[in-house]
Formats: sequence, C-alpha cells, structure tokens
Amino acid sequence: MYKELEQKVAVVTGGSKGIGTAISQRFGEEKMKVVVNYHSDEEGAQEAVKAIEEAGGQAIAVEADVSTEEGIQTLIDKAIESFGQLDVWVNNAGMENQKSTHELSLEDWEKVINVNLTGVFLGTKAAINYFKEHDQQGSIINLSSVHEQIPWPTYAHYAASKGGVKLFTQTVAMEYAPQGIRINSIGPGAIRTPINAEKFDDPKQKEIVESMIPMARIGKPSEVAAAAAWLASDESSYVTGITLFVDGGMTLYPSFQGGKG
Ligand code: BGC
Repeated sequence: MYKELEQKVAVVTGGSKGIGTAISQRFGEEKMKVVVNYHSDEEGAQEAVKAIEEAGGQAIAVEADVSTEEGIQTLIDKAIESFGQLDVWVNNAGMENQKSTHELSLEDWEKVINVNLTGVFLGTKAAINYFKEHDQQGSIINLSSVHEQIPWPTYAHYAASKGGVKLFTQTVAMEYAPQGIRINSIGPGAIRTPINAEKFDDPKQKEIVESMIPMARIGKPSEVAAAAAWLASDESSYVTGITLFVDGGMTLYPSFQGGKG
C-alpha cells in the first residue's frame, strides 16, 4: 500500500472489465477516489464501483467514448465535479480482434486505432492540460502490451496501435518531464481477462500460450494492477517514459529457453 495515494483522484478508462477493473479495485484498496469509465458495460462498471467502495475508496461510473474529445472532456468534468481534483490518469481502454491483414477493412483498422491509440492521445492530452493549468505534477499510465515489441501476425492493427503507444509514451514523457508530469506504459503479456477468455478456456490454446511464457503460467489482472499502483505512487517518482512489462518473461525470447539456438 502507498500511503500518499490515499484521497488521490484517478480516472481509469475501460474500467468495467479485466485489467481496468483490477486497477480500479487496487486503487480502491489504496483508498483513492476513482472515476470508472465504461463504454457499453454499465453493469461491469457498477460492479467495479462496488468493489472500490468495499475496499475503502470512493468511485463513480461514467459512460464515455474515449476515442472522442467530448468523451474525454466528460471524464475530466465528472472527476472534478465529484472529487474536486485529478492526480492520476490511466489510459486502459483497448480492444483487439483477429484478422489477416489482407482481409482487414479500413473500418476494422480505424476501430482499433481509434480506441487503442487515439484514445491514449486524447486522454493524455486532457490530463496534461489539467496538470499544467493547476501547476501540479501527475502520473499518466498507458496500458500497452508485449506487442508494442513483439510482432503479432493477424493482429496488425493491434500491434500497430501498441507500437504507437510505445513511442507516444516515450516522446510525451520527454516533453513534460521538466514539469514533473510522468508518463509510463505497462506492457501486459498473457493475462486472463474477458478479452481473451475464450482462447485461454481452450486447453490446447492455453498450453500453447503457456509454452511461450518462461514462468509457464497466465498472469492475473491483479498482477498488472500492482504495477499501476506503483507507477501512480511516489515510489516511482524518478521513473518516466518506460514500459514496465508484466509478462512472466514473455518478452525474453522464450524459444531460447534451455540453451536452444
Ligand atoms: C493480448 C492478449 C495476448 C497477449 C500475449 C496481449 O496484448 O491482449 O490477448 O494473449 O498480448 O500475446
């Protein structure tokens, strides 16, 4: 637990499911005040709110499309209206779907890029403007992926969005470091969430994925949430522009395990 996080205000985009819910819940355990954003899953967002309150934090659920300026403005406005300030912004909302690149429509491409990359830009921009106006430091956390580094055939739009998040994070970190605004990414590997539940429920698929992870197991959303709490806290006060991989070693070229090659 990080004492200084108590009473701090966070916005978590895509907080109604998976890693977003786990981060929201962890922020609740840190006694923070959380705006849980959702797009379509109101029930999931309300469950996250309940979990935060039960853990000792405060929360509201807010519907907004993070790929639009209006959506992002709604989130800032609700944070201020309900909790009076903003300290931490988590760009978590994301989507993925599998399609061969020659069959990928412009619409498929734009959907993923709009949420995963444009959403990160808009959220970051709004948070930086708020921090600058209030002459305060702040922490921005982007949920990237191991696929900001590892190519992923049949997920070109997804990999492109995450590769974009990587250089966006590094660039913006450099740009606002003088003001003490920190921006970092988290790169989850294979984590059990609704985004990939179907895949991991199939024993064959699960085995294949586990063989690509040196720690030989699928990760838990709470293990990603722990990284978010650290990046939000003052314990990471000298850290900006990184991607913190939470992947059981997936980014370590696991096919070389045992001295192969
Ligand atoms: C994806 C998961 C995938 C993992 C490892 C993540 O970015 O969301 O579906 O299992 O990368 O490939």
